Amino acid sequence: MISPKMFDALNDQIKHEMESAYIYLSMVGYFHSRNLDGMAHWLRVQVHEETIHGMKFFDHLTSRGAQPVLKDLKQLKTTWKTPLEPWKDAYAHEQFITGKIHNLLKIARKENDYTAEPLLNWFVNEQIEEENNTDKICRQMAMIGTSKEGLYMLDRELAARVYPAGSPFDPLAYNVAP
Ligand code: FEO
Repeated sequence: MISPKMFDALNDQIKHEMESAYIYLSMVGYFHSRNLDGMAHWLRVQVHEETIHGMKFFDHLTSRGAQPVLKDLKQLKTTWKTPLEPWKDAYAHEQFITGKIHNLLKIARKENDYTAEPLLNWFVNEQIEEENNTDKICRQMAMIGTSKEGLYMLDRELAARVYPAGSPFDPLAYNVAP
């Protein structure tokens, strides 16, 4: 049995994860429009990851006999002044999500929800990687500064991120070029 407080917090987290996917999808559009297709690709894979995160919380609720309540997604930022800005926003957003995960763990402990703890511990570890990934790209972008060659090289490097096997977010899966 999930307490009402835990139930509401888990529904909020579904929203936060789906909102993450939506925010990063907006950045995908931005980077394609700037011909930085490698960065767009990296974030496209991230959209997959965030959707899976949302589904992990969704399935946690359904497997405990609760019906998830989906909440409205908030209005998004849709444009950025420089290619560095979306990465700074992504890092700040991941720090925000880490705070939400830690808060969920606090609630779980207060509510004696031992069933949710393994899932939340998985996310505590996942957030180390999520923050590190976006922070590292921010630092690389800062190193590059205004160098067009550097930006081109990093874009090529980020194009190498691999989709999880069978990802429906891979354009090859639905035969449409990005
Ligand atoms: Fe689902 Fe990027 O945190």
